[in-house]
Amino acid sequence: MELLNWDGTFSFFLIIAIHYIIHTVNGDDSLKVSLISTGSALPEKVLDNTEISTMVETSDQWITERTGIKTRRVVTTETTISLAVEASKRAMEKAGVAPSDIDLVICATITPDTVVPSAACRIRHELGIDKGAAFDVNAACSGFIYSVSLARSLMLTEDYNTALIVGSEVLSRIVDWTDRTTCILFGDGAGAAILKKDSDLGGEILATHIESFNDIQNALVCDNYPIETPFYTGYKPEKTKLVMDGQQVFRFAVNAIVDSITAVLKKAGKTADEIKYIVPHQANVRIIDSAANKLKIDKSRFFVNLHKVGNTSSASIPIALDELFDSEKPQKGDLVLIVGFGGGLTAGSALIRY
Ligand code: ACO
Repeated sequence: MELLNWDGTFSFFLIIAIHYIIHTVNGDDSLKVSLISTGSALPEKVLDNTEISTMVETSDQWITERTGIKTRRVVTTETTISLAVEASKRAMEKAGVAPSDIDLVICATITPDTVVPSAACRIRHELGIDKGAAFDVNAACSGFIYSVSLARSLMLTEDYNTALIVGSEVLSRIVDWTDRTTCILFGDGAGAAILKKDSDLGGEILATHIESFNDIQNALVCDNYPIETPFYTGYKPEKTKLVMDGQQVFRFAVNAIVDSITAVLKKAGKTADEIKYIVPHQANVRIIDSAANKLKIDKSRFFVNLHKVGNTSSASIPIALDELFDSEKPQKGDLVLIVGFGGGLTAGSALIRY
């Protein structure tokens, strides 16, 4: 009854108004976004170092010692979309998620099959998803992490509940197969993850950190669309392939991994000791070893599968995550950190409670 007098009623509504303002300004703290499943798909054709040695002047020994890569997959009939759809179906099946549940599709790729429609729109169409938004992200090898970060923000601030995040690449189609400094590194494939808001499974994406840096020296460039017009004079066929200054990218990569891991841990209020697994972008085992040394984190905590698949750019982290989740089977509550770097230049990381 007290509440019904003027003072009481006023106080009651004042408390509700303050609660509403805090909720609106800060968002709902109880909301969380979890990564609940992963899936991956690789092309049939295995290209090993011995076969590459018949194409350019190199050797299994050189590639293994300098990169750690032994084999990679390359597309023959597969496409960015076909690999992405296969990886997505596996992630959806593991999560028990139907197309009708998904309301956000983000595809990270630097090799979409078509410029328009986007890869995400085509994946959505093929899977029979018919609500919410779909779009692509180009952040090169950091693309999957950028997409996870973006999806998490959108899900926490907008009305999206279940997201499909895909990284899919057919890098073999933009690699110069006469350039031994690049063609040995890259592979094709796709990885996918399902993100869910308000999941009661106990997991959570605790923090993400994404950053870009100006590539002043053009360390990693694929310049042109292969398009000629009667008016445009800038087309150079040789620039439709990937060109890279390996040593510059190497130096950037080591620092980017170290800085990004440090930043995301700080954001989440966690320490390196608390992380169970680190899943880095799979570019070169020497990059991963150098970063581990700088961070003083035991190398055994970095998950590595690049010897089998090479560098698959934005597909690399979800493919590795899928293998980790299937093989090592992290326990509920384990902290898994994903970290990447790539052309742009870009870098990013995300701390996931499994
Ligand atoms: N086989 C044999 N010899 C080779 C090959 C090869 N495939 N490639 C280069 N060489 C030679 C070079 O010509 C050079 O010879 P020289 O001394 O006579 O001039 C020698 O090997 C050493 O070359 P470096 O470039 O110094 O070799 P390095 O140890 O730096 O390894 C590599 C090169 C593997 C490319 C390394 O720099 C690297 O991994 N960089 C990072 C690349 C990367 O991660 N890129 C992906 C970025 S992610 C994205 O967004 C796509």
